[in-house]
Amino acid sequence: MKVRKVVIPAAGLGSRFLPATKTVPKELFPLVDRPLIHEVVAEAVASGISDLILVTAQGKSAIEDYFDVDQGLESFLERKGDKEMLERIGKISRMIRVGSVRQKEPLGLGHAVLCAWEFVGEEPFAVMLPDDVFDGPSPCLAQLLAVFSRTGKTVVALEEVPDDQAHKYGIIEGREVEPGLFHLESLVEKPAPGTAPSSLAVTGRYVLVPDVFRLLESQGKGFGGEIQLTDALNSLAGSDTVYGVVFKGIRYDAGDKLGFIKANINYALKDDDLGPRLAQFMADRLSREPE
Ligand code: G1P
Repeated sequence: MKVRKVVIPAAGLGSRFLPATKTVPKELFPLVDRPLIHEVVAEAVASGISDLILVTAQGKSAIEDYFDVDQGLESFLERKGDKEMLERIGKISRMIRVGSVRQKEPLGLGHAVLCAWEFVGEEPFAVMLPDDVFDGPSPCLAQLLAVFSRTGKTVVALEEVPDDQAHKYGIIEGREVEPGLFHLESLVEKPAPGTAPSSLAVTGRYVLVPDVFRLLESQGKGFGGEIQLTDALNSLAGSDTVYGVVFKGIRYDAGDKLGFIKANINYALKDDDLGPRLAQFMADRLSREPE
């Protein structure tokens, strides 16, 4: 069955970026000139997804507005004769069909996904976490969907992480069945330091079967007193096949200050106009004595 819908949880407070997130949702922070969430939605579209379900919270309506038509802005650009920007702006409102739902209580990622159930229904769907930005030879989600289309089973994106970082992630235990493809036996959310069952972490891309909703609905609170998606996947792995794919490419954790800056530098260096000037600035800046 074709995967048509993606759920993007965007209800978090963004406390790691306060005070900036006091009024601006972190999902709208720019990667050069496109919001983080634009980059993630572009990956979804490039992977063949047609419908977006945003899970938002109070104070986050600017995200919905971003994907809406802005007639005032469009007529301003038209009057100015800025055809190129008019075209870019118009494309944003046409890139994907958008629906949204509110997560009324901050009960965790699993709960956020559960909030989207009535909009997803009984079909397989993708989940993309907007903090994780991927850059690689092909879209990360497309790499997962390729496995889903030949197996029909749940697939998550995996990345090898250093031991001292494992406590920040969902960590898997599994068996490699093909190069880079793991059959998952169990998953644990944010294992205590020194207890991780492997060095393979779940990153922010998932293709899920709708059974996950029933598991989320009936499960108790997990790590941090929240309803964890990882716990539902761990239960699912007991009754059905769950795969993990070590994706090809680089992930930037844009939910972290340094990761966000690195992502920006990466995208700016790839820009024909900005790239050479930024590289020059960095070389000059690094050769100078610290101020
Ligand atoms: C979430 C998931 C975690 C996953 C991580 C990837 O954690 O709960 O399993 O490894 O995203 O970025 P968060 O980063 O929201 O704490």
